[in-house]
Amino acid sequence: MTFEETVRYRRSVRMYDPEKPIDTAKVKHCLELASLAPNSSNMQLWEFYHVTSPDTLKAVSRACLNQNSTETAAEIVVFVTRQDLYRQRSRAMLAYELAAIEKYTPEDRKAARIKNRKQYYGFLMPFIYTRFFGLPGLIRQCIATTVGLFRPITRQVCESDMNAVVHKSCALAAQTFMLAMAAEGYDTCPLEGFDSRLLKKILGLPAGAGINMVIPCGIRKPEGVRDVQIRVPFEEVYFQI
Ligand SMILES: Cc1cc2nc3c(=O)[nH]c(=O)nc-3n(C[C@H](O)[C@H](O)[C@H](O)COP(=O)(O)O)c2cc1C
Repeated sequence: MTFEETVRYRRSVRMYDPEKPIDTAKVKHCLELASLAPNSSNMQLWEFYHVTSPDTLKAVSRACLNQNSTETAAEIVVFVTRQDLYRQRSRAMLAYELAAIEKYTPEDRKAARIKNRKQYYGFLMPFIYTRFFGLPGLIRQCIATTVGLFRPITRQVCESDMNAVVHKSCALAAQTFMLAMAAEGYDTCPLEGFDSRLLKKILGLPAGAGINMVIPCGIRKPEGVRDVQIRVPFEEVYFQI
């Protein structure tokens, strides 16, 4: 399939064919491709839970309100945000960046690059992701508003903004996954109709984790897809300026 064919093939499929199995290894590979999605500051505050065991599939489907798509799915992937891992990830990213600088950066530019990365992952990232009942977010907003009087600055820095940041990145991984699956001839359906508390319990996730999307997977039954892909007229959403 060309890229356009893949994009057009992907549809939200609500009913999968039990006679047509899918290859777990291929789904896993699609998740590896999903991990190449762009993400904010390369913090990768996401996790992918690939559910294949019948008992867990049943439990996850119940947490998804027994929607047709989860009831008939061969496998299910849960995209999870892990904002709570920000310290761990910023430490890891700093170590990877320093190793890359050592290997690829010309000697005369090394010191400046190391300083920049240490400031970014050693200070800025922990500062921007810290949460404590909204207070750090308020402080960040005050700083951004003050600096913003003099120059352009990122203003989306309060705690709910940072929650949106991790969900945005995770959703890009989810979309990359769905396109990779479509390229394999596999079907998916992104879901946000779920009981997140119950899902977190089933997956054994801590309070700081969030459920971004649940994606049932399988091979479509013809009646599992709406025949036309309805969208508002493109002219209503496209603005060339
Ligand atoms: C974030 C998100 C949440 C969604 N939640 C559900 C859901 O809970 N149940 C469902 O059947 N479809 C869900 N959908 C699928 C949309 O209804 C679907 O993408 C839309 O109708 C367009 O259809 P298409 O994907 O076939 O183009 C969701 C889609 C997205 C992106």
